[in-house]
Amino acid sequence: MTPATNIQDKPNGKAPRETVTITDNRTGKQYEIPITDGTIRAMDLRQIKVNDDDFGMMTYDPALMNTAATRSSITYIDGDKGILRYRGYPIEQLAEQSNYLETAYLILNGELPTPAQYKDWEYRIIHRTFLHENVKVLMQAFRYDAHPMGMFISTVAALSTYYPESSDIHDPENRLKQIIRLIAKTPTIAAFSYRHTRGLLYVYPDNDLSYTGNFLRMLDMMTQSKYEPDPVKTRALDVLFILHADHEQNCGTNAMRAIGSSHVDPYSAMAGAAAALYGPLHGGANEEVLRMLTQIGNIKNVPDFIERVKKGEGRLMGFGHRVYKNYDPRAKIIKRTADEVFKVTGVNPLLEIALELERIALQDEYFVKRKLYPNVDFYSGLIYQAMGFPVTFFPVLFAIPRTVGWLAQWQEMLNDPEQKIARPRQIYTGSAQRDYVPLAAR
Ligand code: CMC
Repeated sequence: MTPATNIQDKPNGKAPRETVTITDNRTGKQYEIPITDGTIRAMDLRQIKVNDDDFGMMTYDPALMNTAATRSSITYIDGDKGILRYRGYPIEQLAEQSNYLETAYLILNGELPTPAQYKDWEYRIIHRTFLHENVKVLMQAFRYDAHPMGMFISTVAALSTYYPESSDIHDPENRLKQIIRLIAKTPTIAAFSYRHTRGLLYVYPDNDLSYTGNFLRMLDMMTQSKYEPDPVKTRALDVLFILHADHEQNCGTNAMRAIGSSHVDPYSAMAGAAAALYGPLHGGANEEVLRMLTQIGNIKNVPDFIERVKKGEGRLMGFGHRVYKNYDPRAKIIKRTADEVFKVTGVNPLLEIALELERIALQDEYFVKRKLYPNVDFYSGLIYQAMGFPVTFFPVLFAIPRTVGWLAQWQEMLNDPEQKIARPRQIYTGSAQRDYVPLAAR
């Protein structure tokens, strides 16, 4: 890191080219701060002081709207242009030509696998899909109507007690073992939570099937002697998994990194990340989209609904994004995938309402001015519903593929020598010191 320089310390006044000069009008002092990759280091501002015993200047950035908290080589997003790439590969190409497990390998390792590497990777994942029997018993203890995402989060956290060696996060081999376990077991946990809410017997994994084929079987298997996963549904789920695999520093990933920065085991950190994903402003939005569409009920109610949103009486769920100020590229692919799925399942009657909402919103000044476009959650729920999943299961369907993103980002954070325990600063706004008054005297 290049140290920041007080310009008054530079008698020849020769400044590096990539710098910004700040004048502190309180003191008249100037500071020249290096710019790297379009950013300045917040720590470089600490030299800006009025007195020697001042703490030094900080930045104030609620919700980290304009703060890069890490360097990352995993996912690239250009929100203005609507671009998403994993390790340099456009999401459109991966959705078209790759599958989830291959994409997961890419996200984790940085390169696409060779055929031998892929075979080994797939084998290692597919053969770790079983859960300890006690985990099953633990899941059975949930109430009959427990939200599957609540079950998912708690069960992921509980896995740390089954794999105590996972707390050795500094050993790369040990880390990989936990990563493989988590990618392998999340569909099983998800499927058990789904069967639980339906009062159905839990179905154990079938290691002869593909990752998504096995998942569908664990969800749908009833009395068939042999279950053949529907190829269109299997592929659609695989595409949805690819699209949800990573999304750089979103709320859940930020939680994964922040919790992981305390060096806790990956199961505990991932439970926290999944909890962040659960919220309606994040991965819970697809559930909210379906509730919203159901509530609108009829295409003729769409204009009224839009007016209410514009008056601030609610949000158009599945629209808007902190980073995308253009059509979310994932939403485009999902819309196409929906057409494929509807050919098999029949069209979701809510599609008509969604299309009308999109049509009106994309030409309405309120949404245009704020650059609000459909995001990944706008159409994904329609596919999930057409495939027969209850709305409460939608966030779980998001969490399964995001597992690899969380773990890749966690690993990158651990390997980054610049990272330390995440510990933001605050501006204290409470009372100044005051003396305690005993209860009787109050
Ligand atoms: N409907 C109506 N108005 C909206 C919406 C929306 N969905 N999203 C943003 N706005 C308005 C907001 O009221 C504000 O208007 P004004 O400037 O007049 O106050 C302006 O647009 C900027 O909004 P913001 O809340 O400052 O934007 P943000 O970057 O903090 O929020 C967001 C991003 C995704 C939380 C938000 O757009 C939202 O709540 N969308 C609906 C929920 C949703 O679909 N979430 C899924 C996100 S994508 C998947 C994921 O990351 O998990």
